[in-house]
Amino acid sequence: MDLDRLRNISIIAHIDHGKTTLSDRVLELSGTVDARDMRAQYLDSMDLERERGITIKLQSVRLDWRDHVINLIDTPGHVDFGYEVSRSLAACEGVVLLVDAAQGIEAQTLANCYLALENDLEIVACMNKLDLPAADPDRCAEEIESVLGIPAEEVLRISAKTGDGVPELLDAVVDRIPAPVGAADDTLRALIFDSHFDQYRGVVSSVRVMDGTLRSGQKLRFLQAGASHQAEEIGIRSPGPIAVDTLGPGETGYLIAGIKDVGEARSGETVTDAARPAEEALEGYRDPKPMVFCGMYPVDGDQFPDLREALERLRLNDSSFTYEPESSGALGFGFRCGFLGLLHMEIVRERLEREFDLNLIATAPSVAYRVHTKGGEVVEIDNPSEMPDGAEVEAIEEPFLNVTLLTPSDYTGTLMDLCQTRRGEMDKLEYLSPERVELRYKIPLAEVVTDFFDQLKSRTQGYASLDYEPAGDDVSDLVKVDVLLNSQPVDAFSMIVHRTKADDYGRRMCEKLKELIPRQLFDVPIQAAMGGRIIARQTVKAKRKDVLAKCYGGDISRKRKLLDRQKEGKKKMKSIGRVEVPQEAFVSALKLD
Ligand code: GTP
Repeated sequence: MDLDRLRNISIIAHIDHGKTTLSDRVLELSGTVDARDMRAQYLDSMDLERERGITIKLQSVRLDWRDHVINLIDTPGHVDFGYEVSRSLAACEGVVLLVDAAQGIEAQTLANCYLALENDLEIVACMNKLDLPAADPDRCAEEIESVLGIPAEEVLRISAKTGDGVPELLDAVVDRIPAPVGAADDTLRALIFDSHFDQYRGVVSSVRVMDGTLRSGQKLRFLQAGASHQAEEIGIRSPGPIAVDTLGPGETGYLIAGIKDVGEARSGETVTDAARPAEEALEGYRDPKPMVFCGMYPVDGDQFPDLREALERLRLNDSSFTYEPESSGALGFGFRCGFLGLLHMEIVRERLEREFDLNLIATAPSVAYRVHTKGGEVVEIDNPSEMPDGAEVEAIEEPFLNVTLLTPSDYTGTLMDLCQTRRGEMDKLEYLSPERVELRYKIPLAEVVTDFFDQLKSRTQGYASLDYEPAGDDVSDLVKVDVLLNSQPVDAFSMIVHRTKADDYGRRMCEKLKELIPRQLFDVPIQAAMGGRIIARQTVKAKRKDVLAKCYGGDISRKRKLLDRQKEGKKKMKSIGRVEVPQEAFVSALKLD
């Protein structure tokens, strides 16, 4: 293929600014997908993605425009998947930066734009949703010029919905974005920027050939995984898969190499020729590192083997989440799972419940702490119940994030207040324009994984946006709070919190449990303790519950029914320190508020 006629691009945008709609329109206008077959959001293939309107899995698709071939590479639209965004950008020479003309620049517009600049990509900026009465393109263009330094007159104006301006955008892609460079006979180096598991074909990877030529049947070496596999099939998507014999330099497509586990063909992997391997891998490979952890337990203990199987199957498709068995006195047998972030956690949980028909309890999310003991050891824990005894702890480190918030200036005060209550330290406050403020804070991850995002949205009527990146570990004054039921600690409710928040956590947990635990035949004390010291207490008063009291008269069948129902209810109870706790109480108590 003639390299001069090739363009590799991604569309980058803040969530909801219309990336998927624009991709759909581009596929349609270029004749790649027949308008009749056009199913909205062609590129988002997972049901869940379609429902939630978020892009998770990356795909690339080839389309023809004005005698040129454009490879459109989809990027995930959520901060949890930042690393995958940077991998997919490494497969491009340029990006279309899409900004909602009614909303203006948002946090991920900035973050994605910086990523594109770091990768030396050409940026074609365009404003979307011009058909909306609320669109204010002149103001938006000014903002793009002042914040991103892209001249306002170069910013294109489109409506992804109606298609207005989209042909001109494709022209601009062809005219402004450089063609890839590379020689067909160089040593092969191809970048994997996405892999998914197909039930019939095994792992299907999206690849971008950087140097040399990828051939069907070729024996390949996966440099970072240190494995060899044969290219069973290579091809392009347009939009369905079409097998080809070779993919030359600058081209993107898919690769099937008989791999059974996506963990062996991760994004960022470099593929080379086994017979003539490249010496150096392409830059930027990183093992995905879970940041947020929680326990997942089947509501019905009998479903434990099903949960194990479901996790194994899901992991084939998503090598970035981790799991290992754990047991809890309160919840029985389950798994400790690690995720890239909160949305990732929610997605995995929802897929488990939906695709595998499981009913799950998830414990409160936690982060990974590095505990320095007085004996000079460093232990990494992601479950509060593993915390060494307080007397042995020298110091605890916790992970931090650099958080960027973009907000209409009216909400600056309430957001500063939110960040401060979350132990944030301000790095920067800057007016991007008289109406828009950028705030940067360093905040402990643990304070963000609770309900930070919801708070952010509700305090600003949805107008503020958020982006974050890991900022390493640092020492904090942290303590473990235990919750005891009838003097017995309940592991599922243990929590590591900042010392200043321990009382509050303890009090809230006791109050909540008091509401949730039914009266027993005896008084049940509920206590919160910090290193052996009780910091909060509530009592569920005893009450004798006589289910037959209502049945005056001698209707035996009615009595039996009531007794049966009571027995049924008992089955769903867990017994902790002689206290019968309904499963429902755990679920509600673990819900974040
Ligand atoms: P993520 O996948 O979550 O990143 O979102 P996205 O950027 O792909 O946004 P999507 O294409 O799903 O669009 C978000 C919403 O904006 C949808 O309801 C679209 O119908 C709407 N939308 C997109 N483009 C336009 C447009 O040009 N005009 C109007 N009126 N609405 C649009």
